[in-house]
Amino acid sequence: MIRSTLLAAAALLLSSQLQAKTCELEIDSTDQMTFSTKEMKVASDCTEVKLTLTHSGKMPKTAMGHNWVLTATADYQAVAQDGLKAGVANDYLQADDARVIAHTKLIGGGESDSVTFSTSALQKGGDYTFFCSFPGHWAIMKGVLVFGD
Ligand code: CO
Repeated sequence: MIRSTLLAAAALLLSSQLQAKTCELEIDSTDQMTFSTKEMKVASDCTEVKLTLTHSGKMPKTAMGHNWVLTATADYQAVAQDGLKAGVANDYLQADDARVIAHTKLIGGGESDSVTFSTSALQKGGDYTFFCSFPGHWAIMKGVLVFGD
């Protein structure tokens, strides 16, 4: 009885490992206040996303800082406005903002940062926007993230 339970648990663990799939996304940012893409795609069989943000410019994060923040499109402007109040010490994001699905830290030229998040927070066909929450950047530095095929 114990043995069969252990076998069942082992089989369950194995199948969940086989089904797990981390998909990697990369995006660059510049001293010209741009992201390298306006659209990012996550295939429907990805269980996790590892997003890496690079900053290929030279300016410091206090002058030309960039982060990568993901929210539902309906939330993005309000999250950006609340982030402004949070200030640079908080990477221009309100602490523990439940509307934020994932975010990197704020980086300057020559730096990079990665964030890994579960796709369980995403709905297939949902409307998601990624943006930089640095003041004045979010109106321009934004794009859509598509989950699904
Ligand atoms: Co920025």
